[in-house]
Amino acid sequence: MQSVAVIGSGKIGYAILNAIKCNFNVIATGRREETINKVKSLGIEGTKDNDYAVRKADVVILSVKPQHFSTVLTQVNKESWKGKTVISVMAGIKSSTLSSLLPQTEVYRAMPNINALVNKATTAVAEREGENKEIVEKIFRSIGSVYWIPEELIDVWTALIGSGPAFIAEILDAFALGAVACGMPRDLAYDSILDMVNGTIEMLRSNKSHPVILRDQVTTPAGTTIRGLMTMESEGVKSAIIKTVEASYQRSITIGNEIDKKFRM
Ligand SMILES: NC(=O)c1ccc[n+]([C@@H]2O[C@H](COP(=O)([O-])OP(=O)(O)OC[C@H]3O[C@@H](n4cnc5c(N)ncnc54)[C@H](OP(=O)(O)O)[C@@H]3O)[C@@H](O)[C@H]2O)c1
Repeated sequence: MQSVAVIGSGKIGYAILNAIKCNFNVIATGRREETINKVKSLGIEGTKDNDYAVRKADVVILSVKPQHFSTVLTQVNKESWKGKTVISVMAGIKSSTLSSLLPQTEVYRAMPNINALVNKATTAVAEREGENKEIVEKIFRSIGSVYWIPEELIDVWTALIGSGPAFIAEILDAFALGAVACGMPRDLAYDSILDMVNGTIEMLRSNKSHPVILRDQVTTPAGTTIRGLMTMESEGVKSAIIKTVEASYQRSITIGNEIDKKFRM
């Protein structure tokens, strides 16, 4: 069985190690005792010693915040990285930068999302030639779906798929408030909205057709839906969502450039 070290067992790191613990020998690290104990409660070896964890592993997953990566670099002996497959989920740091900081490793840059906490992440991995693509695929499949994409699409991915759960949560909250405004109890609104969204997703997946086809199926002439759609149109909802993704994308580029610059040699 191959060994995987998860460096940084926070939200994303913990979700990954919890999902892969049966299929790999896993060792995980953190800074605080509380983090190590949480890891140990899963029956996994936990340590604060990043160098020891890297030495023990075939595959190293870097899941600390980008601003903490420089500390990890100082904690791990240069020799310890040799021959490892390194997977970074850290936002902003480019593959070329990671490869130059970690020579003699095979580096993969990935971008999951918070849905990893329920094994429903949507993860992008930057395309590259490599011997260990299968193992990378296996790790991220264990927390959800995996897309291999050109690295130049990582910023739009971050905006759409990384920030997406927050945007969707905001929109669902607006639906619930609308229902409350019409007299529906809040709990009933939240529960039923989630079921409605799940069903809509199933419909879209099974039909494999463009969303406007489903929209038109629901929209009876002179009915209720067309009145709602007219309001969405006059309030600029679609345009606001397009601009939301674009603004988030621009911010991802800016932050990515700032983070990456700090590590470039
Ligand atoms: N959250 C998201 O939605 C999301 C999505 C995609 C990608 N990412 C990326 O995933 C990475 C982790 O994000 P997160 O949300 O999981 O952050 P997080 O919950 O703050 O977790 C970071 C973890 O790193 C640990 N850590 C910090 N310095 C360390 C060191 N020197 N050695 C060992 N462990 C160390 C922390 O340990 P302690 O707990 O002991 O302090 C913490 O457990 C980030 O780079 C982020 O860009 C996050």
